[in-house]
Amino acid sequence: MADKQRQADELHVIILAAGQGTRMRTTLPKVLQPLAGKPMIRHLLETVQQLSPKQIHLVHGHGSEQLQAALSDVQLNWVLQDQQRGTGHAVSQAMPAIPAQASVLVLMADHPLVPLALLETMLDNSSDTVLVTMELSAPHGYGRILRDRQGQFTAIIEQADASIEQQQIVEVNSGIYLFPAAALRRWLTRLSSDNAAAENYLTDVLAMAIADGMAVSTLQWPQADCLQGANTQAQLAQLERLYQQQQVQLLLQAGVRIADPQRLDIRGQVDAGLDVFIDVNVVLSGHCQLGDKVSIGPGCVLHDCQLGSGTQVLAHSVLEDVRCGERCMIGPFAHCRPGTRLANEVKIGNFVETKNAVIGAHSKASHLSYLGDAQLGERVNIGAGTITCNFDGVSKWITRIADDVFIGSDTQLIAPVSIGAGAFIGAGSTISHDAPAGQLTLSRSKQTTLQDWRAPAQRVSSTDQHTAESKAATASTGARRKVEPDNKEQN
Ligand code: UD1
Ligand code: CA
Repeated sequence: MADKQRQADELHVIILAAGQGTRMRTTLPKVLQPLAGKPMIRHLLETVQQLSPKQIHLVHGHGSEQLQAALSDVQLNWVLQDQQRGTGHAVSQAMPAIPAQASVLVLMADHPLVPLALLETMLDNSSDTVLVTMELSAPHGYGRILRDRQGQFTAIIEQADASIEQQQIVEVNSGIYLFPAAALRRWLTRLSSDNAAAENYLTDVLAMAIADGMAVSTLQWPQADCLQGANTQAQLAQLERLYQQQQVQLLLQAGVRIADPQRLDIRGQVDAGLDVFIDVNVVLSGHCQLGDKVSIGPGCVLHDCQLGSGTQVLAHSVLEDVRCGERCMIGPFAHCRPGTRLANEVKIGNFVETKNAVIGAHSKASHLSYLGDAQLGERVNIGAGTITCNFDGVSKWITRIADDVFIGSDTQLIAPVSIGAGAFIGAGSTISHDAPAGQLTLSRSKQTTLQDWRAPAQRVSSTDQHTAESKAATASTGARRKVEPDNKEQN
């Protein structure tokens, strides 16, 4: 325990993130490409932070402004690498800020899913230089691990510099290293760019360590899939699938029933109670808390939601910043926007949109409504087609509906407006003044029936008349009968 503490005090982490990532073919810097909804570099940073290092040095260059804006909340020593002259050059930019006695953990920012357990294992033999390797069936693009006849590590050879024979090697460099700072600094000054990429390769440092007689441990990590880098969209997509599998496994282990583990995406944190069910093609993002017996129907998208036990979200509903009590029924096709707060047993039916809506227990809006900036009491019934007109073109206003109100279908409530407890609002009303409690209020033009009304006679225009005449003519010559079979085929 004391040992570990000492290591954390001396541990400096360098993360390389200055490259452009041209192989991604996008305008967004590579390390900001999203994985599970957040920039890939954040995944790595969150893992590294758990080691409590003395400092994290982030080497940046390409897309610096975007990177700094995206990570403004993270405590980092920002190290500028003006020109991207290779990974060795990148590391050397950070060295002036690192004391000689430190252990230096070097990581590539395009490896988002490096497991904490691996880094901890490396730190457990921090007296050495440690290099993490992995075996890949498709090693193309990675530096290959060279070993002598006794199997002792000798050097790393980059893809572009490797002979055809060396390219057959399947043990590759993961890009994760632990170095003693003083020696690393020495080796970095000796790097040259005499190679295929004309860059200073960090990987050349390892052969120098061997030449200096330093002990270099190679740590081969068996779960190679999580150590892979994302140079291309294809590799990033693979890592995304891997991450999703990991998340779904955690939920399954926690007892969540998942209709198809391949068709659930988690882009954030999910806390689930007992007997939760999640159907296919669901996306959960932000922080979602699902109470006991919550069920999420197919095709639902939930962001930052807290759902009370027994609540059912039916197919194709979209919920953002929703908090609800127990046994609510939401959807199908409901859209609950930020600030939706539902008490117990509220029903939000199909094609109902809510926003900043606080709705009391047992209230229902079953069909086709908009409830925005609205406060509803308990046992309120909102008829189909009811709209709270909350926006006058300049400001938003509140609609208040007290307990036990019945709003007839197709009603517009022009806010600010209040409906008293137990009031009835007649269907088709436009309510622009407060309605008193316990009474029927309606605004509706009087229904009339015109006694002397006649259905319009069929009027025939001159062109219609011409068409009618020519139709009659073709019918009499038999041309019509010839056309009929073709017409049938077209149908
Ligand atoms: C590198 C390794 C390779 C290893 C692989 C693991 C070298 C020379 N090669 O290759 O052995 O198998 O990672 O994924 O180290 N970067 C900078 N400044 C630079 C160049 C790169 O900060 O001047 C950063 C990039 O932003 C990236 C990381 O370093 O995050 C790695 O660079 P990349 O070009 O992806 O290296 P690879 O070709 O993948
Ligand atoms: Ca890479």
